[in-house]
Formats: sequence, C-alpha cells, structure tokens
Amino acid sequence: MSTNVREKIIAGNWKMNITPSAAGALIADIKAKIPSDIKSQVVLCVPYTDIAVAVEQVKASNIKIGAQNCHWEVSGAFTGEISADMLLDLGVEYCILGHSERRQYFGETDESVNKRLSTAINKGLYAILCVGETLKEREGNKTFEVVERQVTMALKGIGAVDKVIVAYEPIWAIGTGKTATSAEAQEVCAAIRKLIEKLYDKSVADSVKILYGGSMNSANAEELLAQPDIDGGLIGGASLKANDFAEIVKFAK
Ligand code: PGA
Repeated sequence: MSTNVREKIIAGNWKMNITPSAAGALIADIKAKIPSDIKSQVVLCVPYTDIAVAVEQVKASNIKIGAQNCHWEVSGAFTGEISADMLLDLGVEYCILGHSERRQYFGETDESVNKRLSTAINKGLYAILCVGETLKEREGNKTFEVVERQVTMALKGIGAVDKVIVAYEPIWAIGTGKTATSAEAQEVCAAIRKLIEKLYDKSVADSVKILYGGSMNSANAEELLAQPDIDGGLIGGASLKANDFAEIVKFAK
C-alpha cells in the first residue's frame, strides 16, 4: 500500500459508440455537468471518427481526448490502422492500448501491445495500458500471474513509464454489470504497483497511475476510488451517459 497523493484520472471509453454528429452534444452535456474546479484529469477516449469534433468541443475545458488504439509503425502499408502522428496531429493526448476487447476479438498479443506502447509513448502520447484476467483465470487463482505477465511484457524495454497509466480491468467485470469488489480491485492494483517497483523503483511505483475498469458506475465509484492504490477509472457504459459520468468524476477527489 502506498500514500495516495496522485492526481486521479477518470477516463471514458466510448468503444464503438456515438457518431460524430452525436459526439458534440454528449461532450457539451458532460462538460456542463462536471464542476469547473475539479481536481482530477478527465479523458474521453472516443472512436477515431469522433476525434476532430471531440477536440474542438473540449477546447477551453480541462477535458483531454484519447483514442482507443494506435499502430506501432509511424506510417506505411497498414490498411485500416492509425498512427500516433495522426492522433497527435488532431490534438489527441491519450491512447488506450491492449484493451481486452482488442486482445479477445482482434488478435492483440502481449508482444503487439508492447510495440504499440513503445511507439505511442515515444511519440508523446499517454498510454492507458489495459490488463486483466478472465473469469476462468480468476477462478483458477491465476489473476496475479496473468496480470504480472501482461504488465511485464507490455513494459519490456520501456525505460521510463511517466507516460504510462495502467488500467486493471478484470474481463469478467467489463460490460457485465458485475464489478470487482473494492477489496478485489485494490488487491490487484496494489500488486501491479509492487510489480512496477520491482521492474523500476519505488519512486516510479509511487507515481505511476493505476486505474480500475469494469462496470464502474455512479453507485460503486466512490468506494472504488477511495482505495489507496486506485488512481481513477476507465469507464465504458457509464461514460456514454453524461449524468453518470459526471457523478463518477465528482467522486474522484
Ligand atoms: P464497462 O467497460 O465500464 O462498460 O464495463 C470498461 C472498459 O471496457 O473499459
């Protein structure tokens, strides 16, 4: 356990939702509902097609825009992919990497996540690195083993992690309405911090931000965000509803 003096991050993950013509109104609504003196960092990770509208809409606010993936090559023959430079050029500052849906449905591996992360942070993006176990792995007492492997592999060869934010997202809790208890989430986030200490050092571990994700909502956020090693949330479903998302932001003190 460590002293929690880290600024919190509340990041929305819109996934494949919200068209560009609807994005402006949703962000305007979120902006209006978030108190202006909020101390935490609010990030909205939107689909690529919404980025231009979103960046425009968050101007003159403290909200930052993130993407949901980014390729490891700087440019080239990679049909359908998006590069870090393309994101940066639009004003994107954050990027989710290694989300379990990418790993599960699109063949993302620990190796490809490592390559994407390396390029993203070298280019200057903040990488939100997602890790987490399946229900089968949790029931087989493999949680720590899986998460340790994912974090270690993703950070292989990465000298500095000041641009890396880790998001612990147990797969069984994503989009299921089944949240990890605050104790379960805290336990894994603390283990990730210990691992970062082992891979780097104590001061790095003390400053790295570790988020929880998986059915976080306005009813459970307060308790989750009060845990000493949970520095914020990565929020899917509830980030599509301005009221719910703004409520969660208010709990991030
Ligand atoms: P959820 O998604 O909040 O809808 O469970 C979280 C995520 O996948 O990042």
